[in-house]
Amino acid sequence: MNRIVLAYSGGLDTSVAIPWLAEQFGAEVVAVTMDLGQGKELDAVRERALATGAVRAHVLDVREEFARDYLLPALKADAIYEDRYPLATALGRPLIARKLVEIAEMEQATAIAHGCTGKGNDQVRLDVSTRALNPTLKVIAPARIWTMNRPDEIEYARKRGIPVPATIDSPYSTDSNLWGRSIECGVLEDPWSEPPEEIYALTKSPAACPDTPAYVEIDFAQGVPVRINGVDMPLIELIEALGSIAGSHGVGRIDMVENRLVGIKSREIYEAPAAVVLHAAHRELQKLVSPRDMDRLARDLSVRYADLVYNGLWFTPMREALDAFFAQVQTRVTGTIRLKLFKGDCHVVGRKSPMALYEHALATYDAGDLFDHKAAEGFISLFGLPVELSARRVPIARTPAPVAQEG
Ligand code: ARG
Repeated sequence: MNRIVLAYSGGLDTSVAIPWLAEQFGAEVVAVTMDLGQGKELDAVRERALATGAVRAHVLDVREEFARDYLLPALKADAIYEDRYPLATALGRPLIARKLVEIAEMEQATAIAHGCTGKGNDQVRLDVSTRALNPTLKVIAPARIWTMNRPDEIEYARKRGIPVPATIDSPYSTDSNLWGRSIECGVLEDPWSEPPEEIYALTKSPAACPDTPAYVEIDFAQGVPVRINGVDMPLIELIEALGSIAGSHGVGRIDMVENRLVGIKSREIYEAPAAVVLHAAHRELQKLVSPRDMDRLARDLSVRYADLVYNGLWFTPMREALDAFFAQVQTRVTGTIRLKLFKGDCHVVGRKSPMALYEHALATYDAGDLFDHKAAEGFISLFGLPVELSARRVPIARTPAPVAQEG
């Protein structure tokens, strides 16, 4: 029997996809729903999949794997897309693809299917990841093939007696997991309009935040956050606890216009309270313990890492090689970062580490200064030599060149 494994969220698109796939391909549809920490009751989703015509509905708790094998490497790499987006959705997709492939192999299916449209990044991530893991599997994206709009889909569902999900009234499209939440569509498509307060679910409005700041101390061991305010925590718990503290202080809201892989610019709102705080802390600690040249290289490679994750290239030798580099850097990223969370802002206010390259005796302007001031003279003499040589041959203009005028 022809069998298709569908990534099923319980929303309208993937609910309509169940009978659609069965009819178009004469196939049995096996639904797979995963818990990546989106905080949604998944038993109800399983029931809906079966009520909608799936022959089987698998529900997988992949939070542990998600945190350990995807979020942690991204944190170690300081992977932030276009300076702002911590990549929650983008990091989830390779894991989802991996599980779909596993279930497809177990179910002896010939294809996997997903609810992505032809306009987003997610289709690329799922498709490319699937091909990396098992190129014999076909990938079907019903929403890319059918020509139904939302009212058509509702009609399609009604005709077949399929329960229409309650979320259908929301003008927004959202995606969430342990690392954060994205909100798109509706009024947000106008990059000039301020996001309405109602779209946020993980963060308080800064105006409604407590009048006293929260201080959070995060301990890292070799790049891994292990303790908050002195309390040891497993990674998932730590992310959740930190998320609620930061969210209650309004930290983690992101409003940006980003470059999608498919060529368009899109306005995106994110909430990622835990990710924003952890990245700020990790970056600070890594800087404290890393020699200057290595820190600069790590920064450059962070951009490459973020692009790679965003572009769906997780299962590639390039990502493995970058992970190896960042793993080496992490060997010294042990210490504590203290942050102040206050009305939407998150600032590092303290840092310490047994591996710190900061040396008080070298930095101080007070008594106890051990810096060799006299050595600076010789250093500058040679450092400035090429500048002087060049300026002797071709004098440097002392006033700025006039800027070309129009017209
Ligand atoms: N623009 C973000 C990204 O590409 C968010 C995508 C949200 N995906 C979704 N299916 N709602 O990672």
